[in-house]
Amino acid sequence: MVEKRYLLCPSILAADFTELGDQIKQAEDAGADWFHIDIMDGHFVPNLSMGPAIVQACRKATNLPLDVHLMIEKPERYLDKFAAAGAATITVHIETCPEMNKTLASIHDLGCKAGITLNPATHASTIKPYLHNVDMVLVMTVNPGFGGQSFMTEVLPKIGQIRKMLDDINPEVDIEVDGGIKPETIQQTYDQGARIFVAGSAIFNHPQGIRAGLKSLTEKL
Ligand code: DX5
Ligand code: ZN
Repeated sequence: MVEKRYLLCPSILAADFTELGDQIKQAEDAGADWFHIDIMDGHFVPNLSMGPAIVQACRKATNLPLDVHLMIEKPERYLDKFAAAGAATITVHIETCPEMNKTLASIHDLGCKAGITLNPATHASTIKPYLHNVDMVLVMTVNPGFGGQSFMTEVLPKIGQIRKMLDDINPEVDIEVDGGIKPETIQQTYDQGARIFVAGSAIFNHPQGIRAGLKSLTEKL
């Protein structure tokens, strides 16, 4: 999936929402590859965030791919809404999709790329049956629900394990990591095989600004 050596994917959860369009432009000018949009429902995760209207607003602010991460129960109810709003990739949790093959097929039918993701406590083997059918695997490196949490080092071996499984089953597929990705943690995930890096606070809350935030990550790779 990745033609560049890696992709940087700012998570707008950490952006200043009073200036969302401008923040997206700044990140795009500074070299962002995709934008990550975190959808939370207050059920699957204890927090509420945003819905399709924000995806649509981002679609107007940039032509870069929008990477929509659904942290919601019964995500199949909303796939068409997020596709219509302009999602390029829709990622669903293994913990929320009892009929995962059907859900992945629906995402593809809507013209989007399909990502599968798993919480830190969920074993790599749970996603194995679906790897032939996905365009991306997102490995959560924090418990989903909030930005600004600390990276969970114990998840690192799972990235390598999933990379090995993908090399056997679907070698074109790239691994994305999300949660606590900072200058201090990014390289360890790269070394395990991650190539798509989501970062919220490291980019949007960098004291020297968004460009400096992106650079602080890329200079470690
Ligand atoms: C956490 C979200 C992340 C979050 C990452 O539930 O899925 O995408 O925005 O934020 P940082 O980079 O601040 O850990
Ligand atoms: Zn996310």
